[in-house]
Amino acid sequence: MITNTELEYKGDLYPTKIVAFEYEVDSVCFHTDNDVILKVTVLRDSLIRFRFTTKGYFSNDFSYAIDKSHSHEYNFLEVSEVEDYYQIKTNKVLCRIQKIDMRLSIFDLKDTLILEDELGFHWEESYEFGGNIVKMSKSSKDGECFYGLGDKATQLNLKGKRLENFATDQYAFQKDQEPLYKVVPFYIGLHNKKAYGIFFDNTFRTYFDFCNERRNVASYWAEGGEMNYYFIYGPQMQDVVTTFTDLTGKPELPPLWALGYHQCKWSYYPESNLKEVAAKFRELKIPCDALYLDIDYMDGFRCFTWNKEYFPDPKRMVAELAEDGFKTVVIIDPGIKIDKEYSIYKEALKNDYFCKRADGPYMKGKVWPGECNFPDYTNPVVREWWAGLFKELISVIGVKGVWNDMNEPAVMEVPNKTFPMDVRHDYDGNPCSHRKAHNIYGTQMARATYHGVKRFAYPKRPFVITRSAYAGAQRYTSSWTGDNVATWEHLWIANIQVQRMSISGMGFTGSDIGGFAEQPSGELYARWIQLGVFHPFCRTHSSGNHGDQEPWAFDEEVIEITRKFVSLRYQLLPYLYTMFWQYIEEGIPMLKPLVYYDQEDTQTHYRNDEFIFGNQILVCPILEPNSLGRRMYVPRGQWYNYWINEKVKGGKEIWVDTKFDEIPLFVKAGAVIPKYPIQQYVGELEFDELTLDIYYKKGKEKSVVYEDAQDGYDYKKGKYSFLSFQTIGKEKELIVQLHKEGKYDTNYSKYKINLIGLPFNVKEIEIDNKKVIFDKNIFENESYLIVDKEFTELCIIGL
Ligand code: GLC
Repeated sequence: MITNTELEYKGDLYPTKIVAFEYEVDSVCFHTDNDVILKVTVLRDSLIRFRFTTKGYFSNDFSYAIDKSHSHEYNFLEVSEVEDYYQIKTNKVLCRIQKIDMRLSIFDLKDTLILEDELGFHWEESYEFGGNIVKMSKSSKDGECFYGLGDKATQLNLKGKRLENFATDQYAFQKDQEPLYKVVPFYIGLHNKKAYGIFFDNTFRTYFDFCNERRNVASYWAEGGEMNYYFIYGPQMQDVVTTFTDLTGKPELPPLWALGYHQCKWSYYPESNLKEVAAKFRELKIPCDALYLDIDYMDGFRCFTWNKEYFPDPKRMVAELAEDGFKTVVIIDPGIKIDKEYSIYKEALKNDYFCKRADGPYMKGKVWPGECNFPDYTNPVVREWWAGLFKELISVIGVKGVWNDMNEPAVMEVPNKTFPMDVRHDYDGNPCSHRKAHNIYGTQMARATYHGVKRFAYPKRPFVITRSAYAGAQRYTSSWTGDNVATWEHLWIANIQVQRMSISGMGFTGSDIGGFAEQPSGELYARWIQLGVFHPFCRTHSSGNHGDQEPWAFDEEVIEITRKFVSLRYQLLPYLYTMFWQYIEEGIPMLKPLVYYDQEDTQTHYRNDEFIFGNQILVCPILEPNSLGRRMYVPRGQWYNYWINEKVKGGKEIWVDTKFDEIPLFVKAGAVIPKYPIQQYVGELEFDELTLDIYYKKGKEKSVVYEDAQDGYDYKKGKYSFLSFQTIGKEKELIVQLHKEGKYDTNYSKYKINLIGLPFNVKEIEIDNKKVIFDKNIFENESYLIVDKEFTELCIIGL
């Protein structure tokens, strides 16, 4: 419905001259004589909120996205009035607000212009709905790049694009198709090697235009609500992303098994079919931790019920699967079947928990079960009720995770695929229509689900996955990218979407490996699994009516490749877990696009394919059929080709040969990569050694390893261990220093050390200044060194 854009439009209104300002603690309010108030709040030296009203007063300040526990402190704040403008100065930035028209500009302390209003804030009154269509336009510098915005299925750099945020069930979406399932109105701008971020916290339908309509203008606008945005200064993209993630919240650690491999299909039933799948994984020795039940496990698609013909005794079945290391995850959708005999329906009806149309009737729409009503998850009372519904599933039946789907919310057979806009929502005591609540609905469902699963899984950790999400959903849930297609183009899209989600705060994300719709060739499936094992969330899923998509649906070679790569993921679990820990502690994304890794190198600004997994592994998927290798960009620094341990100097594009059972994979020189033995599921094996692959580098490099009980909450009481390795490489020497913190005592007692890339033959080895007797041939024979885990310094001395 919104046609106009940031272009000057005759109905647009603008702030007039600033006539007054007040200053209180961390905020300054500027008033114009046409009732505009701009409230500037300094949250951190590099995090400033800009909130506008056009009414002369502000409505209740409420956001689902902002994490109440976000860090909120600054070191310096000075507000001053200088001739034509007001100035707000912090320890990191300087913000100027022009008296004449309220336009603002932000500088760093070296006086470099970071962000500047073009038209600035303006608005159009909405006669139809009341309130305003709120708009913002900023000038964009030549060469500026844009990143972020969640799950957009397009190039990583958003320069030149217009994007729309409206959570939509987009079955078999296409490249560049808009809008998709998730809404993260946060972007990162980068120019002159400096990065900043904008988070436009507005749940209405929003639009972003990055120099699409006008070459030097970036703008964003919403169909309602407030112009309310946060400016985040870098200058490193890492600072922007971690600040945004801190502002919108970090998750808790998932159970380690959730980082294992998951197998899903629409649908595994009856019980015997699910059991066959489980048995086949173990028989073929392809590690797997979780099996999913899609909608057919339910009785007539009624949530929280079971089809007793297919699954006569779910508790027994779940327990039997668990004995073999499989966790059962079940789907729960928002649509509650209208059925007078159905207890959940009756309860919700009795308590008035369903969303209503403007004039009173309950919102009614078709989903899998037929006509449904939909709980209003924006009501805290409804969320509490919903959480309680998980009791039987989790604590009695033993289900370990819940999958929330169709929560955009999706409605079938209607043109707009969702609720009519007049539907009413509580919005946590700020009643509103679906125009405002639509984009947040899925997140509030996942939030209620998370609280339920957590309550009944305790003292274990919950696992929840959602399809729809708004910024901040990462506090409650992981996510997948929705109904993709088994095509090579979708493999390209999946690679970008997961990177983009990572820098949009929602790092625990993966795609349906192999594609949901249609059927992949064996080659495509193999290439997809080779990428998927490097995604934070790793699950094969497919719509069953297109054929089978278990690894054994393909030929022997593909089975072999799947085993090899899934096994590699299981070996890398301690590395992956450490990545996750850095995400929950510091908001550091688990996947880093090359531009995030090295923004100073302009070669990275338009790269899409290569990314850094964690901090030290460079991954580049093969995205085309019949490839024997590919060109790729290796970022600056020293790297080792993982397969052949050959050294590569980065900062250039190179050709990498790859066989069908490899993809380009590089490890940063100096890295210490921890590895577990291959297990068929997390916790299968007790082992006495942690493998450390140590890659020699001349100079210093730091690596860390986080470990805890892999489930439960003892880590929050300090029961974790944190190993930090410092490697120091010299011409004839490699020193590895280990510093250990924390109270968690791991089961293993030794490290099995692989030394890779030593430029000298070993003469002597010292551990904590004591000479060690060793077999001189060990390194030539690709063997390893076993070292007690309590060492603090290992010294390898060359001939
Ligand atoms: C939706 C989901 C898909 C699921 C299907 C049936 O299409 O995106 O993952 O399998 O519904 O529940």
